[in-house]
Amino acid sequence: MKVLILGCGYTGSRLAHFLLAQGVAVVITTRRGVVPDGMRAACYAFDYDSPEKLTLLPPEAWAGVTHVLDSIPPNSQGVDPVAACFIPVLESAKLRWFGYLSTTGVYGDSQGAWVNELTPVNPQSERSHHRVNAETAFLQSKLPTHIFRLPGIYGPGRSMLERLRTGKVRRIDKPGHVFCRIHVDDIVRTLWNSMQQPQPGSIYNVSDDEPTEPSNLIVEAAHLLGIAPPPAIPFDPTSMSAMSASFWEESRRVSNQKIKTELGSLLYPTYREGLRAILQEEAASVA
Ligand SMILES: NC(=O)c1ccc[n+]([C@@H]2O[C@H](COP(=O)([O-])OP(=O)(O)OC[C@H]3O[C@@H](n4cnc5c(N)ncnc54)[C@H](OP(=O)(O)O)[C@@H]3O)[C@@H](O)[C@H]2O)c1
Repeated sequence: MKVLILGCGYTGSRLAHFLLAQGVAVVITTRRGVVPDGMRAACYAFDYDSPEKLTLLPPEAWAGVTHVLDSIPPNSQGVDPVAACFIPVLESAKLRWFGYLSTTGVYGDSQGAWVNELTPVNPQSERSHHRVNAETAFLQSKLPTHIFRLPGIYGPGRSMLERLRTGKVRRIDKPGHVFCRIHVDDIVRTLWNSMQQPQPGSIYNVSDDEPTEPSNLIVEAAHLLGIAPPPAIPFDPTSMSAMSASFWEESRRVSNQKIKTELGSLLYPTYREGLRAILQEEAASVA
C-alpha cells in the first residue's frame, strides 16, 4: 500500500501522520512543495493557480501508488485542480482506491431537516455548485472513486477552544438553526476503513451524531476552558461579513448512518467528546 495525498493541509496531514504510524508509505503535495513540520514523507509541489510553479508531478511521485486522497478544493474560478490535471494519469495508475474530500454544502439548505446520501444534491452557493461538478467528474471517470462529504472540520489546533482563547468569538443566537461538524480524527478513521474495503462509486457523509446550534458549542467550549461564554447576540445578517452571512443561509442535519453501518463507529460522536479529546491532546503535548 502506498498513499498519495494531493493537498496535504490540515486533514491531509493528520491522515499522513496516521498512515506513517501504521508503516504505510506516503507521498504528498503542497503548493510550495514544503513538507509539513515533523512529517517524514516525500513531498512534491503542485499549485494549480500559479502556472509558473505548476509542475505536473514527476513519474517517481506516482510510482507504486495504490491509493490517492484528493483534498484540494476547487479554485476561485470553480476549476477543480485534480480533475483538470490528473484524471488521465490517475486512471492509468490502476489505483485500488481514490478518495475525494467534498462538502455537505452540496445538499444546500434543508431548513434543519435530515439529509442522507440518497438525498438529491441541491447546491445553492457557487462554491457548492463547483463541488458538485468536481464530484461528478470523479464519479464519471474510470477511477475507483469514493466521495466523502464533510461538514465543518475541527480538531487539535482548529477548534472553538482556540477561537475562544483569542477573545474574538461572537455567540450568535438563532434558535433552531443547526450546523454539523466532524472531528478530524474521525475523518482519518473513516478514510482508513474505506481504504481497507474499497466500494468504488460510494458516497459517504462524514458527520458526527449531533447537529447543534453554534451557541451550544461555544458554551460547552467555554465551560471546558473554565471561562464565561461570550454574551448571546441576536442573529442579524446585516452586522456580518458576506461570508459569515452566507454561512447562516443554510441549515441541515446530516445523517451519518451509512458510515456507521459500513465503515465503523466514531471516536467522537459529539462535540463534547471531541473538545475534551483536544484538551487532553494539548495537555499531553506540553507534559
Ligand atoms: N475546513 C472545513 O471545515 C471543511 C468543510 C468541508 C469540506 N472541506 C474540504 O475538505 C478538504 C480538506 O479540508 P482541510 O480544511 O483539511 O483543507 P486545507 O487545510 O485547506 O488543505 C487544502 C490543501 O489543498 C492545497 N491546495 C489548495 N488550493 C490549491 C491549488 N489551487 N492547487 C494545489 N493545491 C491546493 C493546500 O496546499 P497548501 O498545503 O500549500 O496550503 C492544502 O494542502 C478541502 O477540500 C476543503 O475545502 C473543508
